[in-house]
Amino acid sequence: MTSELGLPRELTGRRVLLRPPRLADVDDLMTYVNDPDWARYLPVPQPYLREHAVAWIESMLVADWVSRPLWAIEVEGRLQGMTNAIMAADLSEAELGISLDPGCWGRGYAREVLEVLGDALFAKLAGLVRLRAWTDCRNLRARRLLEGLGYHFEGIVADRRVVRGESIDDAGYVLARP
Ligand SMILES: CC(C)(COP(=O)(O)OP(=O)(O)OC[C@H]1O[C@@H](n2cnc3c(N)ncnc32)[C@H](O)[C@@H]1OP(=O)(O)O)[C@@H](O)C(=O)NCCC(=O)NCCS
Repeated sequence: MTSELGLPRELTGRRVLLRPPRLADVDDLMTYVNDPDWARYLPVPQPYLREHAVAWIESMLVADWVSRPLWAIEVEGRLQGMTNAIMAADLSEAELGISLDPGCWGRGYAREVLEVLGDALFAKLAGLVRLRAWTDCRNLRARRLLEGLGYHFEGIVADRRVVRGESIDDAGYVLARP
């Protein structure tokens, strides 16, 4: 199955499967969303209640797949994260996001997910010029991930957003079409 853009709804890496989220994922999501390590740099409610997870997945089921495609990340047969792309209106740029269960950090899964997703986006979208990612400048794990993938650090934008009442300085990264 593919989207209107020709993006596969399912993408497979060596160890990861990216597929559409489903309501049955709520239980797996609830196993890690209250881990402070997971939530620290994410704009999510804390505590993260089951109703938040249900409402979020329901919103993803009806979200516009063309402008905001999103995939659940399965590792070892279980949902262990999410990744998404926010497409620019002219499809010249895609802003990527990713989050994983802290239980599977440090094993290269995030790197594999962003490689698979980036490759698919560049392969399917001829007009895509670059991938972009933003992260809280204190999020060293995310910055290491992006730098390891060859993203170019573009600088820090102060007070770019507010998360749980705190003003956030974001680090911006860009990966040009190879
Ligand atoms: C950002 C995030 C996805 C990074 O996850 P991660 O597991 O650290 O990232 P990677 O997949 O690149 O794993 C890298 C680590 O795996 C190790 N590794 C082990 N096996 C590996 C393999 N086969 N291939 C690559 N790296 C491997 C690397 O040495 C590295 O170790 P280190 O953390 O000690 O330096 C994760 O921290 C997260 O979900 N955070 C919460 C959400 C968030 O902040 N998202 C960012 C907003 S854009």
